[in-house]
Amino acid sequence: MKPDLSIRIAGIDFQNPVTLASGTARYGEEITEHCDLNRLGAIIVKGIALKPTPGNPPPRICETPSGMLNAIGLPNIGVDAFIRDKLPFLRQFNPKVLVNIFGSTVDEYGEVARRFNGVAGVHGLEVNISCPNIKEGGIAFGTDIESTRRVVQIVRKATTLPVLIKLSPNVTNIADIARAVESQGADSVSLINTLLGMAVNAETRKPVLSTITGGLSGPAIKPIALRMVWQVYNAVKIPVMGMGGIMNATDAIEFMIAGASTVQIGTAIFIDPTIPVQIVDGLALYMERHKIQSVSELIGSLQC
Ligand SMILES: Cc1cc2nc3c(=O)[nH]c(=O)nc-3n(C[C@H](O)[C@H](O)[C@H](O)COP(=O)(O)O)c2cc1C
Repeated sequence: MKPDLSIRIAGIDFQNPVTLASGTARYGEEITEHCDLNRLGAIIVKGIALKPTPGNPPPRICETPSGMLNAIGLPNIGVDAFIRDKLPFLRQFNPKVLVNIFGSTVDEYGEVARRFNGVAGVHGLEVNISCPNIKEGGIAFGTDIESTRRVVQIVRKATTLPVLIKLSPNVTNIADIARAVESQGADSVSLINTLLGMAVNAETRKPVLSTITGGLSGPAIKPIALRMVWQVYNAVKIPVMGMGGIMNATDAIEFMIAGASTVQIGTAIFIDPTIPVQIVDGLALYMERHKIQSVSELIGSLQC
């Protein structure tokens, strides 16, 4: 019998659990030249704020051992232009569209969320809480339990769409943050966002990135991401969307065994944009080989 890859989480039906992580495929246009989007479970678009922002000046990306550092800084076209100019393109494809949103104040999060109510072709909001809280001194919302609670609360009230909260790994206890998110009515958590890192040029004695520090992604962060997915899976009842250094089907399966219901692929597509589709095929082959009928049987099946 053909394995069943479909999965329903947060009230959303995914044809399979393989999705594109926010930011690495922007609004989906370029990647369709190299990757059959219709084979994927969902695309999570680049972070959207209320108003357009240019992001940080270059250099804003550099390679590191087994990973990359980025200081892109959330450049985006703003919510109105996204709905008008980018969403019609995405509506043509099978995968669910999850819109990644962010704000620099709690109210802005609420306002961006509100704008997506009733917009055709948007199936859920992924809320990036790794952004600096401008009003409260620039500390990222998602590193503080109280501001995490307030963001989830305002977004939850503002929207009828499924709310997925994307957690920052730059915290001491990610399970506590996940519990706070769940207590405010979020439908799901996704993790991990990038880890704070830095690169230095020994010859010039200058930082490599214009912002000095940046976000580390790729295989270098996979063991940390797996650990956090497992901790969060054991801390909350809402489903977990896992990511961080997934490069192939085996990595994706490991995340699901650790507790992820879906997986997101980010940095890997810079190396080979066909990797997400290869992961869908690899997952099906693994299920056949292990006589697994439904992909949901894999979730949290870690044998300790
Ligand atoms: C270039 C780049 C841009 C990103 N932009 C966003 C973004 O806009 N919003 C967000 O929540 N995460 C963003 N991320 C984080 C990824 O979605 C993902 O959480 C992280 O890179 C870990 O997964 P990976 O190792 O598979 O890339 C970005 C990552 C990269 C590398």
